[in-house]
Amino acid sequence: MKGFILILTGLVFSAGIWMHNIDAVNSHATTPSNKVFSDTLKKDPETGLIIDKDLYMVKAQCTSCHSSKLIIANHLTRDGWKQKIRWMQANHNLWELGETEKQVLDYLEKYYAPEKIISRRKPLANIEWYKLDVK
Ligand code: HEC
Repeated sequence: MKGFILILTGLVFSAGIWMHNIDAVNSHATTPSNKVFSDTLKKDPETGLIIDKDLYMVKAQCTSCHSSKLIIANHLTRDGWKQKIRWMQANHNLWELGETEKQVLDYLEKYYAPEKIISRRKPLANIEWYKLDVK
């Protein structure tokens, strides 16, 4: 009986370690490097957009027709954002942003840019190519 309890405790214990490891692997796999960065920034409770001095303008210009989720789901370069704005102006009755366009683009470029690939290695330098001897 004692032996049985000992084995049972051992099983429960190792199952615990096993599950813990799975957790560790999963959280590692689902955490891209700059998600950590954006997670540390405060979000506006109303829209989920990152809080910044220019947020009020983005809210005024960009959240009256559709949900801010459309913005959050996109990661574009400054030029890409500009093209999206032009596209909405051409097809969806978005008005001219005038002076405020710079402010809106500054904000979008700062917080909703394409994900950075941090773990990429440096390109190889001074490669000495050699002729492959194919017979
Ligand atoms: C006059 C209305 C209007 C305003 C204001 C507006 N949009 Fe849009 N936007 C739309 C429409 C309509 C769509 C298409 C929605 C859909 O596909 O369901 C859209 C789609 C989008 C998309 C998704 C594009 C895609 O390729 O799927 C993004 C990103 C976006 N808007 C960003 C913005 C930003 C940033 C602003 C502020 C500068 C803004 N919107 C302001 C009308 C507007």
